[in-house]
Amino acid sequence: MGATGAVGQKFIKLLEGHPWFDVAEVAASERTAGKRYGDAVSWKQTTSIPEAVRSLEVLPCTPELKSRIVFSGLDASVAGEIEADLAQAGYVVLSNSKNHRLDADVPLVIPEINPDHLDLIPIQKKNLNSKGYIVTNSNCSTMFLAMALGPLHKAFQVEKVMVTTMQAISGAGYPGVPSLDILGNVIPFIGGEEEKMEIETRKILGKFNGKNIDLGDFPVSAQCNRVAVEDGHTMSIAVKFARKTSVNEITEVLNGFSGLPQELGLPSAPERPIVVMSEKDRPQPRFDVNVFHGMATLVGRIRPCSVLDYKFTALGHNTIRGAAGASILNAELLKIRGFGD
Ligand SMILES: NC(=O)c1ccc[n+]([C@@H]2O[C@H](COP(=O)([O-])OP(=O)(O)OC[C@H]3O[C@@H](n4cnc5c(N)ncnc54)[C@H](OP(=O)(O)O)[C@@H]3O)[C@@H](O)[C@H]2O)c1
Repeated sequence: MGATGAVGQKFIKLLEGHPWFDVAEVAASERTAGKRYGDAVSWKQTTSIPEAVRSLEVLPCTPELKSRIVFSGLDASVAGEIEADLAQAGYVVLSNSKNHRLDADVPLVIPEINPDHLDLIPIQKKNLNSKGYIVTNSNCSTMFLAMALGPLHKAFQVEKVMVTTMQAISGAGYPGVPSLDILGNVIPFIGGEEEKMEIETRKILGKFNGKNIDLGDFPVSAQCNRVAVEDGHTMSIAVKFARKTSVNEITEVLNGFSGLPQELGLPSAPERPIVVMSEKDRPQPRFDVNVFHGMATLVGRIRPCSVLDYKFTALGHNTIRGAAGASILNAELLKIRGFGD
């Protein structure tokens, strides 16, 4: 669903040749339904539309789809109701939208960080009285903050976080930000983004208590900016920890980090989820955003902070690891778990 959008196109591209999943159907708005995908989409990927998908008829987003596993890159103005209807009707919905991320019985999952939150699925299925359910991945900038903080929280216990983002234009979808607004410019406002980073990070780093998630017990203060970069959200992060640590220890914990997707060898898992770069001026979106096929979180410039304890830079690909790639990795982990059936 949302197959014609920026995230939807990335799904189509990443699922081409996937060993476990085939794109059987594509769905979008009523405006587009009935057209051939190749005619309906304004394709913006650097590879061509997969032939098998080009000729598919675009369907409306209704519970008449034949496939049980539904990836959603729907616009947030409509995702809430459509995704809920599909889950109710028995579909497994993997959502990229904000609408259900904070629902008490909906997992907000990064497989390397909080795979145990998938244990909310039986609770959600019971609440819905359905074999369907929704699993969400985080907002595209939250992804790289939570990924970098996850292992550090486990090792040193995060007490306070400040983050300032520099987010790519592709994060606003297509056609997105008008060129006259962004060329040669920085826009110090992205609606709702700061609030999402501040709360989603705490849910992801929170604890499943058997019924729901106790939020991570630390404040996050986010400032979000749109910059004239095509792909890749960069962020400056400062953290205070409960335990004493050092630049070397932080570097070791991040560089040595590996999670369940790596252990299970999931097809979309990056070889290393976090890569610490030692060059003094990296990571940079133009050069580093595609490390491990856009699935890695790049970290650099780890150093002491005179206000909190330590500060560093993080970067990741917003439409791959921050959206479609994250959703596909969630689906791969669900498949290993038998989709909760
Ligand atoms: N871009 C990113 O980096 C990113 C990252 C993480 C999460 N997200 C989230 O992912 C979602 C999609 O983002 P995007 O950037 O891909 O947006 P987008 O390019 O604007 O695409 C939106 C999609 O939603 C469909 N749609 C719009 N109105 C609809 C309706 N009434 N019924 C059914 N489908 C409808 C559109 O279909 P038509 O072509 O038919 O209009 C299109 O396929 C959003 O919730 C966004 O916040 C985006």
